[in-house]
Amino acid sequence: MILEAVDISKKFPVEKGMFGPASARTVALDRVNFRLMEFTTLGIVGESGSGKTTLARVLLGLIPADSGTIRFNDAFISDFRKDVQIIFQNPYNSLDPKMRIKDALYEPLIIHSVCPRREMRGKASELLRIVGLDDAAMERYPSQFSGGQRQRICIARALACGPKLLVLDEPISSLDLTIQAKLLDLFVELKEKFRLTYIFISHNLSVIRHIADTVLVMKHGRVVEHAAAHDLFERPAAEYTRQLLEAAR
Ligand SMILES: Nc1ncnc2c1ncn2[C@@H]1O[C@H](COP(=O)(O)OP(=O)(O)OP(=O)(O)O)[C@@H](O)[C@H]1O
Ligand SMILES: [Mg+2]
Repeated sequence: MILEAVDISKKFPVEKGMFGPASARTVALDRVNFRLMEFTTLGIVGESGSGKTTLARVLLGLIPADSGTIRFNDAFISDFRKDVQIIFQNPYNSLDPKMRIKDALYEPLIIHSVCPRREMRGKASELLRIVGLDDAAMERYPSQFSGGQRQRICIARALACGPKLLVLDEPISSLDLTIQAKLLDLFVELKEKFRLTYIFISHNLSVIRHIADTVLVMKHGRVVEHAAAHDLFERPAAEYTRQLLEAAR
């Protein structure tokens, strides 16, 4: 086991005066429990606002949970900052527009002391090749790439420090369909190559069916169902899962 989440809860304050009393709080996560095995992909699905991104952010330590514990397997995750990386939905916001691609790739290499400076260019070039881009990308700026290419650059950046667990929050949703399929293939390939574990968040059930080993279904901050992907799609146990599958047909 690489990760265990135990009774994770999180509320956010609701803006004053907008809805109800000033003290109202939105329940974003309500006692979420799950376990994640090494080298598997956990798919997370659920309607908009069900708490998927909040869960990802809590797992990454980007925001604190109100209660609950997150345990990482010590042997596998030894340096959290290096071993756990996240990729967001929008590759336009995730890259600094004023930074050349080579500098965007050098940054994690420097922060995590991955290699000596003289080896950085070679390492950056290797990272680009791994995600299907060539060296010409190095001197260019993010605005000179398509959305799909930018997401590949974000993936290269995430891989720079040799992570073990990647949290992918709707990583292909903003891209057009043919690009989505290519990136999905890339994720599958990278997982094999680098023995990665994924948490893959998506609205798209066919994408989840394709990539996930187990699937967590969320609604209003709760885990409605967590099952092997095959079972969940063939024999959904929860009424809500049935509705989701039905709606996607
Ligand atoms: N920073 C925040 N401040 C206040 N409320 C928040 C904040 N972040 C999330 N929420 C609320 O928490 C709930 C869960 O939001 P979250 O972004 O986790 O949903 P999601 O499942 O990722 O949705 P989507 O599929 O649209 O990305 C929502 O009601 C949302 O409005
Ligand atoms: Mg989200």
